[in-house]
Amino acid sequence: MQEIKALSSSQILGKYWKKALFLALSAFLAMPTRQAWADRPPLPFSWGAAFSAHQTEGGDRHSDWWDWELIPGKIAGNHNAQIATDHYNRYEEDFSLARSLNLNTVRISVSWPRIEPEEGKFDEAELEHYLKVVKALRARGIEPVVTLHHFTHPTWFHQKKGWANKDSSEIFAKFARKVASALKTEVRVWITFNEPLIQIIEGYLKGNYPPGISNFQTAVMVYENLVRAHAKAFLAIKSESQRIYKQNKFIIDGTGLALHMHSYSPFRDEKTEEGNQDKQAIEVLEHISQWAFLEAVQTGVLQWNIPPIPALPKGHKLYVEIPEARNTLDWVGINYYTRYLIARDKTNSLGARWEIPKAEVPGKWGNTTLIHPGGLLQLIRATKIHLKSEIPIVISENGLDDAKDLYRKSFIEEHVQAMQQAIKEGYDVRGYWYWSLTDNFEWLSGFDPRFGLIEIDYATLERKVRTSALWFKQFIETSFIKTNAANRN
Ligand code: BGC
Repeated sequence: MQEIKALSSSQILGKYWKKALFLALSAFLAMPTRQAWADRPPLPFSWGAAFSAHQTEGGDRHSDWWDWELIPGKIAGNHNAQIATDHYNRYEEDFSLARSLNLNTVRISVSWPRIEPEEGKFDEAELEHYLKVVKALRARGIEPVVTLHHFTHPTWFHQKKGWANKDSSEIFAKFARKVASALKTEVRVWITFNEPLIQIIEGYLKGNYPPGISNFQTAVMVYENLVRAHAKAFLAIKSESQRIYKQNKFIIDGTGLALHMHSYSPFRDEKTEEGNQDKQAIEVLEHISQWAFLEAVQTGVLQWNIPPIPALPKGHKLYVEIPEARNTLDWVGINYYTRYLIARDKTNSLGARWEIPKAEVPGKWGNTTLIHPGGLLQLIRATKIHLKSEIPIVISENGLDDAKDLYRKSFIEEHVQAMQQAIKEGYDVRGYWYWSLTDNFEWLSGFDPRFGLIEIDYATLERKVRTSALWFKQFIETSFIKTNAANRN
């Protein structure tokens, strides 16, 4: 029998140094590198495109926007969405094109004015229509994501003081319940509100959107009512549809919000006193426009005082409890387009000015917006800080107005790279939905801006897939995050 000798570690190393070196080297080479990451097995991912009812459907005649658009001067070129892209009648064609682009998700919205043209009277034929719409998506293997509120209201809603009405959240929750009940067999991903802050700012602070009010005090009240409306709609959807697909979840699931988020930087040099003031203005702006709403629907508390808001109405509560809003978020959507330079401006109720002329803002510009993909990565990181539980993030809108399709490919590529970087860093990002599937009616600017993966010829309503969309289709096929409707967990 061979004698077993006890060897010291230095003796072992001495004896096996070649093998040890070989093992260490192989371990080093096996460490994940960029290339290795790209070769990993595909991660189920929601690749999609988004659009809204009023911007595409046409015939949305009970909507507040229908009347608004007819007032001369409200919309560029006095355009209106009476026909829009005629999506209401052409949804099958649009969804087939979406499928041909490898998308596994399409984010639509339902039109509240169509469904409830008179208060409390729901139009069953319109609910039936939307059921057909979501079924048409499913038939193509596409997951429907349904937004309940994307800026439009039935006209009667404003006659009742709109979102300034203390009962507005109840009124909206009834509508939400009705829609959830009608579509629950087909829909497992919902959005209560698209960009509530835009509704508040444009509808109640600047008066550019209906109901055209410009009053800070009303806007504050509306803010609180929208948190309540989100919460009640969330609960209505939950009680109606109780996760029908419990056994068969999608990559994301349940009810979220699509929040409008920007990347903000100080206009003036940060080292100067003015630059410092700009930074403080950004804190206020970010809190009001991004984080306060997001936190309120998780904690049930709307905080107005962190940081102090300059023009808060006198005597207004700084800490508003909305208990029904606790834990009313299953996932959060980031709508990201651009970066703004911010200057402190005491004359503005929010204490900040962001409409700084293009000539004064250096950087890479698209038609109207500054292109800043890095901002998306910063926002994903910042959003996570404001999440109170482990809920996933989705890029619920990201897109470029680019009629000639010159920059869209690089725009998408660079933003997706920023998002992939976040995923590599461990952030739970589960979807990227380009805005928009087709060209469509742009709220204040009419039909000139062209955001679509698919071009619309407004004279003939013919659809044509853009070159950048064909590139996107290929990209989805080869990306490590795949079009795959399988359960992610
Ligand atoms: C809105 C869309 C709009 C898009 C482009 C988003 O903030 O949700 O309705 O068309 O921006 O301006």
